Amino acid sequence: MSVEDWLADTRASYDTLAPAYADHVRDLLDQTPYERAILAVFAELARADGGGPVADVGCGPGRITAHLAGLGVDAFGIDLSPAMIEVARREHPALRFEVGSMTDLDLAEASLAGVVAWYSLIHIPDHEIGSVLARFHRALRPGSPLLIGFHVGDDVQLKTRGYGDHPINVQVHRRRPEQLATWLDETGFDVQAQMTLRSAESSLGGILVALRRPDAGPGKPEA
Ligand SMILES: C[S@@+](CC[C@H](N)C(=O)[O-])C[C@H]1O[C@@H](n2cnc3c(N)ncnc32)[C@H](O)[C@@H]1O
Repeated sequence: MSVEDWLADTRASYDTLAPAYADHVRDLLDQTPYERAILAVFAELARADGGGPVADVGCGPGRITAHLAGLGVDAFGIDLSPAMIEVARREHPALRFEVGSMTDLDLAEASLAGVVAWYSLIHIPDHEIGSVLARFHRALRPGSPLLIGFHVGDDVQLKTRGYGDHPINVQVHRRRPEQLATWLDETGFDVQAQMTLRSAESSLGGILVALRRPDAGPGKPEA
């Protein structure tokens, strides 16, 4: 499958699903205290050192963006699906949402105080992950946090029916936390926290928090 095929399939699928998906997840954080705790830690890290903009990449209907904004974070959302962005803008009119793909993220270097990818990297195939993480790394200020939520496992499922029984065509990549941690390390992140949990978000959810490693200066080896 080419890049264009899986991206186009993912976009079309979430365009179809957007209202049903938004209904499904709207109040999910009320049921997930561990996730709320992690989001609070992430918010604290992102607000440190003067704060700054935080990108919720693959924001869907914007519930995580809005939750972070409620924690005093200058959060904005980016999503591949125009229909998702339409829902996010309608549900959270005070916040900023843009259509865009994490495979083609065009954000100024070191401009962000944080990046969150909450159950969105699950749609990126292995061969594109390094390039996506490198884009996150470039956009983050050194020392700033990246938060990833994902399904734990080691298989790829093709989902052909979505919330509300809508026909879709989306690949879901379940990953071992150790594999993601290795990719993060290779891309220049220091992994700070790694956990798995069972909750309404996922039958086995994975969480990773990593900080962009400070750049090695000329002639200065990385710490
Ligand atoms: C499972 S939903 C999670 C949405 C949101 N983070 C949440 O937890 O409510 C996955 C989202 O990732 C988005 N997505 C998938 N591939 C993407 C890409 N390449 N760039 C940006 N967003 C993407 C989808 O459109 C969808 O909104």
